Amino acid sequence: MPTNISGRRQKMPDKKQIDGLPFVRYEHVSKDDATMLKEGKQLEQELQARRSVREFSSEPIPKEVIEYLVSIARSSPSGAHKQPWTFCVVSNPELKKKIREAAEQEEYQNYHGRMNKDWIQDLKPFGTVWQKPFLEIAPYLIIVFKKPFDIDAEGKKSQNYYVNESVGIACGFLLSAIHQLGLVSLTHTPSPMNFLGGLLERPENERAFLLIPVARPIDDCWVPDIERKPFDEVAVFYE
Ligand SMILES: Cc1cc2nc3c(=O)[nH]c(=O)nc-3n(C[C@H](O)[C@H](O)[C@H](O)COP(=O)(O)O)c2cc1C
Repeated sequence: MPTNISGRRQKMPDKKQIDGLPFVRYEHVSKDDATMLKEGKQLEQELQARRSVREFSSEPIPKEVIEYLVSIARSSPSGAHKQPWTFCVVSNPELKKKIREAAEQEEYQNYHGRMNKDWIQDLKPFGTVWQKPFLEIAPYLIIVFKKPFDIDAEGKKSQNYYVNESVGIACGFLLSAIHQLGLVSLTHTPSPMNFLGGLLERPENERAFLLIPVARPIDDCWVPDIERKPFDEVAVFYE
């Protein structure tokens, strides 16, 4: 019988064939309208409070928590269920130092000529600079790789579908779960990010997608005073 991360036994799902294909029963958790409204409001408030944080505490986090987070991310939907992702979790201090140094080299160039004037201007409210000390301070860096294609044991290549969409959704699951567990993260893109594949010795079919430090925030943590677009500006209902 399969077990989950904590070793508890999982219930085996009902199975049957439909048109010669194997199906399992979908176990639905039904909620009435009042419950959906109450929980929807709570969840909306909880997730609206998520922020990208750049001041991390080095306080340790149990490895099992990070395993849960990655396992939540891997539950994401993906084009043709190809699951075109690898989540690399770095806690090794020497490796984090190397990642920081390589990221800072790229970011130095970004902030000194590679980003155009408009881009630099758009980044002003965030006060970001090329230095990235948080890459060494955060106890965990989750580096998400996308796989434009797979390679089987015989070296044969096969294509994956909607890779950016799939990996983007998985990262959304991850960021949401990090927040809901009371931790913080940053969606970081020290581009070009090819150096991550080299440092982590990833295979030729993996490309770095996002670098996500996971930590607790420092005690007196501040984030940019920015507003989200109003609901009516981003939502259109056709009734
Ligand atoms: C694809 C993507 C790339 C980002 N890259 C960076 C980055 O390299 N450095 C950084 O400080 N913030 C980065 N951010 C964070 C954004 O600045 C942040 O999400 C935005 O300002 C909104 O703030 P909030 O996440 O607190 O709501 C990135 C966000 C996304 C979605």
